Amino acid sequence: MDDLERLAGAIRRADTAVAVTGAGLSAPSGVPTFRGDDGIWDRFDERQFTSDRFRRDPAGFWTDRVALHRAMFDEEYEPNAGHEALAAMGWDGNLEAILTQNTDGLHGDAAGAGGERTNDGEPDVAAETETTVLELHGNSRWVRCTDCGNRRDGDPIVERAAAGELPPTCECGGVFRPDVVLFGDRLPDAVLQRARSLARESDVFLAIGSSLVVEPAASLPRLAASTGATVAIVNLEPTPCDGIAETVLREDVTAVLPRLRDLTTA
Ligand code: APR
Repeated sequence: MDDLERLAGAIRRADTAVAVTGAGLSAPSGVPTFRGDDGIWDRFDERQFTSDRFRRDPAGFWTDRVALHRAMFDEEYEPNAGHEALAAMGWDGNLEAILTQNTDGLHGDAAGAGGERTNDGEPDVAAETETTVLELHGNSRWVRCTDCGNRRDGDPIVERAAAGELPPTCECGGVFRPDVVLFGDRLPDAVLQRARSLARESDVFLAIGSSLVVEPAASLPRLAASTGATVAIVNLEPTPCDGIAETVLREDVTAVLPRLRDLTTA
């Protein structure tokens, strides 16, 4: 029996399997990762995208945000075989929750799942699948007014900023901000607590396509392991959690996850 078959067996036996995902899952869809070869943070200075800078200099923040948004989301991305496999595992009843760091919304597209909002705690779309999709860092497809809380489709607002409305403002006079967790923001307590309780409850915890260097994702595998979960990591490069994982698969998500899903239904 190889590693993948052993992992599939553990998932089949599990009451609760949970996955945390990162940019490596969306990379095959064309969405750039943040670290590694030609990562976003090699091209942009992450210090320009902090919540402190947004407060101090919203016009300058939005000038840089337009370039970042276009670098990340300038084409229509589609879910890839990795997203589809995780969605299918949800439909199979083999995946309780996906805790994603990604803000591209592709898990929601793949599973038709409700992305539970980081910012207002309400499901983004009616969840149509067994799997909870928790968007830990929000969703870049949306912006939100800092005064009235109004949430809008982000693209037209980004285009208004690109055309010189800096910062883009709401009818109420408030300033729009991306509906994502910026560096320096705290994650809403409800989301953080939900993610941590899912990690604690899990019998199997998968970390997929993440360098596992940014909190809270970085600590979730350890939290899961501390309450007895079997941890498995699928990532092309080493992560700080490799040492606590029973299984480490240095393979492409689009190769591994469909095989894993098939084995969990065999
Ligand atoms: N298959 C498997 N792993 C892959 C693939 C692939 N096709 N492509 C890339 N990877 C791996 C890379 O080796 C890398 O270790 O995915 C990982 C992506 O790591 P990061 O780019 O650091 O992305 P992530 O872990 O999601 O970053 C976390 O940092 O900047 C913040 O808010 C941002 O959510 C992001 C957070």
